[in-house]
Amino acid sequence: MNEYKIPNHVGIIMDGNGRWATKRGLKRSAGHSAGYKTLKKLAVHILNKGVKYLSVYAFSTENFKRDTEEVNYLMNLFVSKFKEEKDFFMKKNIKVVFSGLKEPLRSDVWESMQEISKMTKDNTGGTFNILLNYGGQSEIVEAAKKIVKDVIDKKLNINELNTENFNKYLFQDLPPIDFMIRTSGEVRISNFMLYQVAYAEMYFPKVYFPDFNEKEFDIALDVYNKRDRRFGAIKK
Ligand code: IPE
Ligand code: IPE
Ligand code: MG
Repeated sequence: MNEYKIPNHVGIIMDGNGRWATKRGLKRSAGHSAGYKTLKKLAVHILNKGVKYLSVYAFSTENFKRDTEEVNYLMNLFVSKFKEEKDFFMKKNIKVVFSGLKEPLRSDVWESMQEISKMTKDNTGGTFNILLNYGGQSEIVEAAKKIVKDVIDKKLNINELNTENFNKYLFQDLPPIDFMIRTSGEVRISNFMLYQVAYAEMYFPKVYFPDFNEKEFDIALDVYNKRDRRFGAIKK
């Protein structure tokens, strides 16, 4: 029997909070609050399984197009939870990092992000990458700008740039995503980690994110284990 495979890096597009709430006659914000509760339990479960890197899409740059009320609710939720959960992440030995642009985030949001990443930077029990004000295309464009700067400053010989060390110019220097999950039944990428998903296995369960519990993740892992990853080679 083959060994049960645990992906090194899991990415989750946490979608369907709004529909989860609307279906129950609740405001969309109730869906975000329920999604947060799911995420807290799920993140611990996933890292306990032996996954080393977990990237979650919390807010895309494009999500600023939503109503001010919803954007404000989410920003307030981020600030309050980043403050509230610091001890939790320390206790669980989880390193929190962020991917995304600073502008146009509110300064209190940015500061709470800095605070939690600074506090947890030496933790070794898994890396939790939160995508906030994130877009995959802008991550690549920002990388291109940093590369040009390093070349001009003679810190980088352009001939030495390759697909491996290119990672160092992204928001976070992370290994490739092995398994990408998008909840809610939508089958699209929506600008999620375009560089890192190059060879990811993808899974699109129908459940809305607040219902994507530990059991659902275990089902997803079974699906991952049935996949045949080839990376362009011919199967022997
Ligand atoms: C995902 O759920 C959470 C964020 C984008 C912040 P949605 O808010 O997109 O929920 P739906 O897709 O409208 O149901
Ligand atoms: C992607 O979901 C962003 C997050 C989950 C944070 P969206 O709900 O914003 O994506 P679209 O608009 O359906 O593509
Ligand atoms: Mg959505």
